[in-house]
Amino acid sequence: MIIEYFHASKYGNGVQVAEEFKKIMMAKDVTVNIHHVKKIKPKEILPADIYVFSSPGRFGKPVKEIRKFLEKIDLTPGTRCAILTTEMAPQPDKKTGKVSTEEGACQKVLPTIREILLDKGLKKVAEARVYVLGIKGPLEEGWQKKVDAFATSIPVNGK
Ligand SMILES: Cc1cc2nc3c(=O)[nH]c(=O)nc-3n(C[C@H](O)[C@H](O)[C@H](O)COP(=O)(O)O)c2cc1C
Repeated sequence: MIIEYFHASKYGNGVQVAEEFKKIMMAKDVTVNIHHVKKIKPKEILPADIYVFSSPGRFGKPVKEIRKFLEKIDLTPGTRCAILTTEMAPQPDKKTGKVSTEEGACQKVLPTIREILLDKGLKKVAEARVYVLGIKGPLEEGWQKKVDAFATSIPVNGK
């Protein structure tokens, strides 16, 4: 089984997440080929069983590079895909102390990717957010467990 993995990491957190995902999948005999979207053109995408798309957050959306990349991909409807974002950990509201929901009005990193992929008729099999603690990282404590859970939610060889 082959997974093609596309990310747009700027500060390296998304690269760490991608490498961890690859390590977990290798143990299941799955090949994961990781690409930065700046280094590959949408038309150069190779056949795969599943495509993973990953982006950091920027002003409530995925970074521009990944949005442009996703808009240009030409995969057959029904192709399986998964979404993994790195986002700022939700902060408690200064007045109420409540932690905002992951899909608040100003935070649409994952939903934007989801919408583009579903509009293209792709089949989403998994999605997850891994949080960063500061604007450039580091990744939250226990992030590997989140990546592991994400990897586990991806069907491998029909299971
Ligand atoms: C200018 C700027 C704006 C950002 N805006 C958001 C945002 O709106 N939502 C969010 O979750 N993260 C935001 N971030 C933080 C990114 O999520 C974080 O930089 C990223 O997850 C790190 O991943 P990377 O190391 O793979 O680039 C922003 C970062 C920068 C530099």
